[in-house]
Amino acid sequence: MKYRRISRKYLKPRWPYLKQDKKGTLHIHDTSIKGLAEKYGTPLYIFVESEIRSRVRRFKRSFPYQKFRPQYASKCNSNLEILRIMREEGMDIDASSVGEIILALLADFEPREITFTNLHKTDQDIMFAAKIGVQAITIDSVEELERVAKVAQKMRTRMRVFIRVNPLITLGKYTSKHQQYGIANGSVAKAIRMAKEAKYVDLIGLHFHGSYISDPKVYEIAAQKLIKHAVYCKSLGIKLRYIDLGGGFPFQYNDHEVFQPEDMGAHFVQRFEEMIHKADLSPPTLIFEPGKFMVANAGIGLVRVISKKKRPKKRLLVVDGSTYAFLPDPMIYKQYYEVLPVTKMNARRTREYTIAGCTCDCIDILARNRWLPKLEAGDLVTFMDCGAYSSVMASNFNTLKRPAAVMVKENGTVKSIRRRDRYSEMFAPELDVLKVADPQELKKFYDLTRINIDKLWNGRKKK
Ligand SMILES: Cc1ncc(COP(=O)(O)O)c(C=O)c1O
Repeated sequence: MKYRRISRKYLKPRWPYLKQDKKGTLHIHDTSIKGLAEKYGTPLYIFVESEIRSRVRRFKRSFPYQKFRPQYASKCNSNLEILRIMREEGMDIDASSVGEIILALLADFEPREITFTNLHKTDQDIMFAAKIGVQAITIDSVEELERVAKVAQKMRTRMRVFIRVNPLITLGKYTSKHQQYGIANGSVAKAIRMAKEAKYVDLIGLHFHGSYISDPKVYEIAAQKLIKHAVYCKSLGIKLRYIDLGGGFPFQYNDHEVFQPEDMGAHFVQRFEEMIHKADLSPPTLIFEPGKFMVANAGIGLVRVISKKKRPKKRLLVVDGSTYAFLPDPMIYKQYYEVLPVTKMNARRTREYTIAGCTCDCIDILARNRWLPKLEAGDLVTFMDCGAYSSVMASNFNTLKRPAAVMVKENGTVKSIRRRDRYSEMFAPELDVLKVADPQELKKFYDLTRINIDKLWNGRKKK
């Protein structure tokens, strides 16, 4: 098939996999997006393997440090196929729950390739992580350190830990001062001494995650602060092996430019090595935990227009996805996603539309004031760059099924990587309690035959 270049105006360099045919229909490499909608239905998440691999390689190349071990923050998209690709690309995993640890194990990561970092771990979580032998548990507070020490003592098992530091950085508009994570810089020395005294705790690393970082200097300042604590550790005879500077690398969702790992990597590594040398420390393993940078632009959300409506000074398109079950970020963060008309790329953009989701909530708006060609019910549109924090944050609000997902593989095949939700699974938590309820109550209030879908579907027999 012959493809045309998409007008530069609409083709962003971050979607190198997109093409359009003569008729103006979008393809991912040689796979027709319209064909995917026909085969898998909408709404649908589409992921592009080549793009995930190329982002990971780019990120790794950007930091020319010998002991560099980046981790993928699986909270951002924990689909097993994506985790598998991350493993094949040599990433470790930053897991934020036991659930994510289990997913990483299912994707064949070794426990030593997983760290466990979050704000709250139950004793059971700590036991699980220790028992399987994760790389480290990241301690978020002094209270958590006490609990980890207690659980370790009880299990008579040595636990490897990182201490999460909030270095209380302020740089321009950025500040970590008000974030709820980690131990405040001034209390870190105390935590280090506590870890040293705990018989079954091995402090092996220091951690910082700065959330939304727009200036790479933040990583440098954080490194400087963590290295100071590492020097203190050394004075107590603790040999730290890891400095972990978290994720937070920005992603360019619109035309507003953000820094890229290449812009900072070499300079950062040079500064980091100087700091380590000056502090007279042996070079630690350097960890970053990127999430959205790795997968955002590899994900495309595909929906179908179900109706058009006119409102005063406004044209509305209603689509079969929503900010609840499909793309939550426009509602939570007012996130902007580019929208492309899948089969009308050649048409002039003559209409300004607001795109509404299909739930019964008036704040369910996916995009506002977008210039698009004249669209009709049945037309397809894509929401670009939705590979991070979409599918994992989607809910069943309105008791809607969350969408299926497919991966367009490098070899040109399409692999189904998640099926749509099933009602039976969505209702199970409530039906399971009904099943153990008092039979009399059950009979009186919940005639289970009423939810026998087969009976409803086939029609009830008349008495
Ligand atoms: C501890 C930790 N590491 C890494 C990340 C990934 O952040 P991002 O997707 O912004 O790179 C997060 C995100 O919340 C996080 O909490």
